[in-house]
Amino acid sequence: MIFKVSYLTEKVNEYINSLAYNHAPNELYNPIDYVLEVGGKRVRPLLMLLAYNLYKDDIESVLPQAAAIEMYHNHTLLHDDLMDNSDMRRNRPTVHKVWDENTAILSGDTMLILAYKYMCECDKDFLDRILPLFTITAIEICEGQQWDIQFETMEDVTIDQYIEMIRLKTAVLLAASLKIGAIKAGASDEDADSLYQFGINLGLAFQLQDDYLDVYGTPETFGKSIGNDIISNKKTFMLLSAYNNGSEQQKAEILRWVKMDNFDPQDKIKAITAIYNELNIDKLCFEKIDNYFEKGLVLLDSIGVEESKKSELKDFVKRMMRRNV
Ligand code: IPE
Ligand code: IPE
Ligand code: MG
Ligand code: MG
Ligand code: MG
Repeated sequence: MIFKVSYLTEKVNEYINSLAYNHAPNELYNPIDYVLEVGGKRVRPLLMLLAYNLYKDDIESVLPQAAAIEMYHNHTLLHDDLMDNSDMRRNRPTVHKVWDENTAILSGDTMLILAYKYMCECDKDFLDRILPLFTITAIEICEGQQWDIQFETMEDVTIDQYIEMIRLKTAVLLAASLKIGAIKAGASDEDADSLYQFGINLGLAFQLQDDYLDVYGTPETFGKSIGNDIISNKKTFMLLSAYNNGSEQQKAEILRWVKMDNFDPQDKIKAITAIYNELNIDKLCFEKIDNYFEKGLVLLDSIGVEESKKSELKDFVKRMMRRNV
């Protein structure tokens, strides 16, 4: 039986809502409710369930791990918003804005620990295989986040370094979600590894799309403020490509904004976006996204499961690539 994404989303949300972590002090747990209750796309738990459902039907048995991966993802968001000085997420003020920075740190930490607690709710054989994967993934994400922040003040970041940074901060979590689902369902090692690699390519495309939407998205649909990456000198594929492909004048203009200490944020967003427009950086970005996505699909094709079983997962990731949220 192949479950629809809508049904799986309902199951994940039901399960997350049933988690009984909130007790005194509520000041610690209310921010966790706050961030989890508005949802988000639930991409990672859905990937885990869809990967599981390639092989098995009793999706209930993987719900603790699906909830764990979403809890973990939301932990990274609390800390990421603090690090990125972001005011809005999922159309609401971020936790450090509604409460304060200490709350984002400590409620964020609590979410990481809760994620481990739910991840461990399974039998020992399974745990022996997923815990090292989850742990290395969480460490890699910290490494990616550290590069991301360091790159803000570096002027010689290459596109290869950017790709490695987004592999670490974003792609490995999508990949691990798929692989954990596959392992739990008893997939072969080959399949589990192919799903992981599929997730890496999907994750690279996903972060490129996130970076694109940070410039060209609509705040109401994207749920985050637009232009944050430009303001904070994030070395995105778009900024690096604009610099690499720009005329001497455009290069100088980019550097001038990157080095400027005092500026009107809207002026900087406008000026850098104008250079992106002149150079058709959006097209370049789409090509890059398509490239990784197609590579991913080839890996998905190589999995030893009949085609009809893959349709829901394929449709889901295709919708994900065309997202504006
Ligand atoms: C945001 O992830 C962080 C990135 C890795 C780009 P999502 O875009 O999956 O955020 P939600 O969970 O749907 O809000
Ligand atoms: C987020 O990258 C990666 C992690 C949360 C680990 P971004 O900083 O681009 O994510 P958003 O745009 O704030 O969601
Ligand atoms: Mg951010
Ligand atoms: Mg960030
Ligand atoms: Mg972003």
